[in-house]
Amino acid sequence: MKDNINLEIYEKKKVLSGFFGLFYIIVLIILITAGWWYLDQLPFFTREQFNPLMADTTKPVADLQVLKSSTTPPVDILKESVSTPDKIAKGKTLFETTCSSCHGAEGKGDGVAGKTLNPPPRNFTELSNWKNGPAFSKIYKTLQEGLPPSAMASFSNIPPEDRIALILYVRTFRTDYPPIDQNELKDLDKTYSLSSGVKQTAQIPVTMAVEKIITENTPVSEKIKSIVDKIQNNKTDKGALILKDISYDLNKSITALINYPKWNENESRFVKFVETSPVQKGFNPDAFNLSSEQWSLLYQYLKTII
Ligand code: HEC
Repeated sequence: MKDNINLEIYEKKKVLSGFFGLFYIIVLIILITAGWWYLDQLPFFTREQFNPLMADTTKPVADLQVLKSSTTPPVDILKESVSTPDKIAKGKTLFETTCSSCHGAEGKGDGVAGKTLNPPPRNFTELSNWKNGPAFSKIYKTLQEGLPPSAMASFSNIPPEDRIALILYVRTFRTDYPPIDQNELKDLDKTYSLSSGVKQTAQIPVTMAVEKIITENTPVSEKIKSIVDKIQNNKTDKGALILKDISYDLNKSITALINYPKWNENESRFVKFVETSPVQKGFNPDAFNLSSEQWSLLYQYLKTII
């Protein structure tokens, strides 16, 4: 009797737990279906739509500046690094014109142009967490080389004396900038050969350099084609009309001229060039019959398009 009851309870438990197992499976199926349905409902989105969130803030903001090559006269760093009211005044003026847009007029890193920068411009009234460091020679290094990839560009175009004046001024934003050490000045002198004069090599922005490479390598044939197209479409310029008249193959004529750049030094050189074996250069033999006025018109026209 007792055993029977136990058996019954056991059976019931088994059925119940079976139900529970099934219950979990059903819940799982519902969840998966719901998830599937939800994903299906989502509008199609692309990585770009998330750009504001995922923007790469470490990307360089500033490209190289255009710098002409120059040689800076020797600088006596031991003497120049001694602060004087004149140098501070000069540094202040330079700071206000070149740095305060980002670093703020009071050096607090809160200039208008620096508002959106990441990393933000350095706050010169705080001395912790600098990348290169607040020591005189470290700030010099920052100004010389910039802090890529941040917006802090190189200011190597500013003459060393002016940069030193800037550093001396930056140091006035606090009274406890690290003292200037004679050894660090000597190292600085060695690193940047200040006492022997600095040679600044010319520099252009990377984007400009890339454009230059592309245009310089555009195949000559494309250049010729575009010139020939221009000539053919020109129905008004007298020079263009004469050219079409005397050239039986514009491609050949323009190629010949491009391959002999000296033609454009003066008119007689040009005339001589065309008149020597004209047929090989795509010109009709009757090119000889042009009047001197026609030659001039032709020469002037060609100079404008090649
Ligand atoms: C276009 C904005 C901009 C201008 C203009 C600018 N800076 Fe900066 N500067 C920055 C940013 C941004 C940083 C922070 C870079 C970092 O932490 O990586 C910085 C950092 C610095 C630092 C700290 C270097 C370190 O060790 O952390 C110094 C020093 C500095 N700038 C000096 C100057 C001086 C002097 C001028 C003017 C000649 C100047 N900056 C002009 C944006 C600018």
